[in-house]
Amino acid sequence: MDFSKFNKIIEGKTKVIYENPNDPDTVFMLFKDDITAGDGVKHDILEGKAQVDWQTNRDIFEYLNRCGVRTHYVSSPEDKVSIVKKLERKINLEVVSRRVAAGSILKWGTGAAEGDRYEPVITQFHYKDDPLHDPMLDDTYIEYMIAAKNSIEYSEARRINAEVFQHLERAFAAFGVQLIDFKLEYGMIKGEVVLIDEITGGSFRLWPFKTDKPNMNQANVLSELDPAGRLDKDVYRMGGDLGAVRDKFGAIAAITARFKELDV
Ligand SMILES: Nc1ncnc2c1ncn2[C@@H]1O[C@H](COP(=O)(O)OP(=O)(O)O)[C@@H](O)[C@H]1O
Ligand SMILES: [Mg+2]
Repeated sequence: MDFSKFNKIIEGKTKVIYENPNDPDTVFMLFKDDITAGDGVKHDILEGKAQVDWQTNRDIFEYLNRCGVRTHYVSSPEDKVSIVKKLERKINLEVVSRRVAAGSILKWGTGAAEGDRYEPVITQFHYKDDPLHDPMLDDTYIEYMIAAKNSIEYSEARRINAEVFQHLERAFAAFGVQLIDFKLEYGMIKGEVVLIDEITGGSFRLWPFKTDKPNMNQANVLSELDPAGRLDKDVYRMGGDLGAVRDKFGAIAAITARFKELDV
């Protein structure tokens, strides 16, 4: 497709959104080779990333749609291009769910140790604003918005986030890796809260199982997992060379390519 003739709606860090002249209810999502971390402070061009992200995103959203999750995803008509339902209103939240303690939660001084397992998963809301570094919202505020304001943005996003976590955790586990945590985004489409944006190697942490039969039924599961073998954007955040990052994202795409084999 030649997007030079299309109207650009918005260009973000990793994707460009174009109007669909044939259908006002959908838009085109075009993946870019850019990779960023630290709210965009760290930035590189990683040739081939758009293609691999597009594949991972397609395979994950097709699986979630089969699972009956309410998503914006429609189809992927050609390499690096997807069609999604058009947002009516953006919800400026990043919704994080965690099964296993890793990353920023270890720095909060709350006593979380790497590998602590959360049952059920914990879900936290961050206000999406790069200059403010996506500050976390207070849980009492979330409860107030749900109870006093009947804010379905929060109640539905929290519900869908936990539901998606169960689906993806199960899917990745079928291929020997543990979904540690992820960050998803939501928007309003025809009055409903819908899972939007992308789910790619930058959206989650993935650590391989150490053995064929890990015992995940423990308060801390670090002994069952291989964080050094991580398959996610932490490789980039930690300063790994771009070739290593490309290999990891390729390994993720090889796994998600097999999600179509899974029953739902
Ligand atoms: N279904 C959709 N309809 C319209 N815009 C969308 C949809 N899904 C995601 N977007 C928007 O695409 C833009 C580009 O995404 P991205 O490159 O990830 O941006 P960011 O730099 O904000 O992370 C974002 O503004 C996001 O809100
Ligand atoms: Mg983004």
